[in-house]
Amino acid sequence: MEAVNPYYAIPIKIKKIIPETPTITTFVLDGKPFDFLAGQFAEVTVPGVGEAPFTPSSSPYADILEFTIMKVGRVTSELFRLKEGDTIGVRGPFGKPYPLKEFKGKEVFIVGGGVGFAPLRSLFLALLHDIKDYKKIYIRYGARTPQDIAYKYQIPEWQKVNGVDMLFTVDVGDDTWKGRVGVVTVILDEIPVDVADAPTVVCGPPIMMKFVTQRLVEAGFTHKNIYLSMESNMSCGIGKCNHCRVGKFYVCKDGPVLTWDDVKHIEEPFV
Ligand SMILES: Cc1cc2nc3c(=O)[nH]c(=O)nc-3n(C[C@H](O)[C@H](O)[C@H](O)COP(=O)(O)OP(=O)(O)OC[C@H]3O[C@@H](n4cnc5c(N)ncnc54)[C@H](O)[C@@H]3O)c2cc1C
Ligand code: FES
Repeated sequence: MEAVNPYYAIPIKIKKIIPETPTITTFVLDGKPFDFLAGQFAEVTVPGVGEAPFTPSSSPYADILEFTIMKVGRVTSELFRLKEGDTIGVRGPFGKPYPLKEFKGKEVFIVGGGVGFAPLRSLFLALLHDIKDYKKIYIRYGARTPQDIAYKYQIPEWQKVNGVDMLFTVDVGDDTWKGRVGVVTVILDEIPVDVADAPTVVCGPPIMMKFVTQRLVEAGFTHKNIYLSMESNMSCGIGKCNHCRVGKFYVCKDGPVLTWDDVKHIEEPFV
């Protein structure tokens, strides 16, 4: 059988564009060019512009592939100009997934911030698929304002699921907001899980990752049970170019999911 070239970006059409927040959009692709596991990522190419790494936000069990993306710079700005029916390229999946086998039978404590909800949605949907295998799933999520919360149209449905406990906070509320106000650590004052045993998963902007991890360590989570979705500059995606080094790790190959136990000795793991 011919080996798959990991540098080849498979062309695929954008089937649907779902604006989530003023800066975050979900791109639903027309099919699923490869299987993946929650936590793995892909390189997305905007033709004539370049490529950037993104973690699928759709369920690994679904027949479609979705990415939820924040507009921040060159590639993402051009991606946001595209329309339904336009073609992009995807190559992957790359990196190591969340070790879901190790989560089985346990409470899973998930903490997200901003566009970090994208990879976490994929993880959450994978957990929901086999919900009876887990003791309980906790989600703690922080956004800047109520308008910046992604997947608002799905959250009420998720909140009704038996075995799911969700709590949200925003940095700045408005007249419509009935939830907590403050950065995400304000909803980590009380952590209702068995911290000695529960895995916890964190994904969000570097500053949020730093303070949330500090809080989880203080709360007593086992360091090897704190799973962090690491971000770094990437190029090849397959451990060849040296762009994505964080300490001794290649984020593309050894990560993007690393544990606090892996990275705690690195001077600035969240950059
Ligand atoms: C494994 C992995 C998974 C990821 N998954 C996701 C995901 O699911 N969703 C997602 O949205 N992102 C995700 N990211 C981050 C994403 O890869 C980057 O946001 C993307 O590479 C940015 O590309 P760009 O060319 O648009 O930005 P660049 O032009 O490369 O800019 C990079 C950075 O420069 C700054 N910057 C550039 N231009 C501006 C500007 N005009 N104003 C302010 N700041 C600016 C921003 O801080 C920006 O983050 C992931 C990253 C990794 C490593
Ligand atoms: S992106 Fe090339 S080594 Fe990781």
